Amino acid sequence: MTKYLFNPIRLGNHTLAHRVAMAPLTRSRAGQPGNIPTAMNVEYYRQRASAALIVSEATQISQQGQGYAWTPGIYTEEQVQGWRAVSDAVHEQGGTIFLQLWHVGRVSHPVFQPDGALPVAPSALPVPGKTFIIDENGNGAWGDIPVPQELTTSGIHTILEDYRRAARNAIAAGMDGVEIHAGNGYLLDQFINSNSNQRADAYGGSIENRARLLLEVVDVVAAEVGASRVAVRLTPMGRFMGMGDESPEDTFGYIVRQLDVRSLAYLHLVEPAMVGTVKDENFDPHWDAIIQLLRAQYRGVLMLAGGYDRASAEQALASGRADIIAFGRPFIANPDLPARLRDNLALNVPDASSFFGGDAGGYIDYPTVA
Ligand code: FNR
Repeated sequence: MTKYLFNPIRLGNHTLAHRVAMAPLTRSRAGQPGNIPTAMNVEYYRQRASAALIVSEATQISQQGQGYAWTPGIYTEEQVQGWRAVSDAVHEQGGTIFLQLWHVGRVSHPVFQPDGALPVAPSALPVPGKTFIIDENGNGAWGDIPVPQELTTSGIHTILEDYRRAARNAIAAGMDGVEIHAGNGYLLDQFINSNSNQRADAYGGSIENRARLLLEVVDVVAAEVGASRVAVRLTPMGRFMGMGDESPEDTFGYIVRQLDVRSLAYLHLVEPAMVGTVKDENFDPHWDAIIQLLRAQYRGVLMLAGGYDRASAEQALASGRADIIAFGRPFIANPDLPARLRDNLALNVPDASSFFGGDAGGYIDYPTVA
């Protein structure tokens, strides 16, 4: 039964035909030079336009916000034109698409930074992780992340303006809205989590201070494009890239209550809180309790992602745990995922070796049923 999955829902100014959304998925195939969406990227999104809502791959708001090879941006005129072709194709198919706005903060490398500078972060602390860089020969390679530089107050103000410009550009590119990426250990998450934020100014210390940058970004973006076109993605209790918080229930409870009063398009939470894992060693047993706690404190549309299948998605909607379910890996391999779920058809299996980078293989060649 998919009584709940195929119920329409109101989201911002849109009525979505059902509840099967496409999660944001970095595929590292932007056009070079310039990190500009290509005709191949347009085709990938066009194929998936039957999603209730597409959340685009994470898209850097500035050169400073890039941390991985070949990810797209939304800060140049060429990038806006590239994304315009994507949104036009999705709309021609009757779809709805939000652009995910990304600043990686410390999860970067001088090869991506203006003038080869050190990446920026709330605090100058070592980062446990690697990022995918471009080596001297133009090939992808894993690189160590250097200790970042601590952001100054004026550096923070520049980033707020970069978010404002990116949101304006996204709407100019025909996007229906923007999702602010505040999870997975990137800039906004680095400010939120006590592990990565040791600042002594108004952006560090108390929960209110650690949440300040996210809320300022939300307010700047909402002032620019309207709150009904703004969403936020969080990964509470995530451990990726050295995240960890001394009191996640309090920290994320505060954030969710603050978001609740801002009348956004939706709130998006990821469970379990690590990219691409399902209840592995990173799974925190408190997760289930925290998601219920956060759900109870948020009255708007709640989207959940992370390891869902047809049955668990239906169950989450039926129980009121979520209003919309976002599917990640299943959408990579099944462009027609909603139809397959509706008719309970077999799913193609995603090939992880072609997730990041490469060509059309494993990107726009997964077969549809019809
Ligand atoms: C991701 N994920 C992700 N999340 C995000 O907020 N922005 C992004 O750009 C990406 N990129 C990305 C790429 C790839 C290849 C994977 C597998 C995952 C996380 C993704 O949105 C989702 O939360 C997870 O994949 C869990 O959902 P599924 O795949 O179990 O349905």
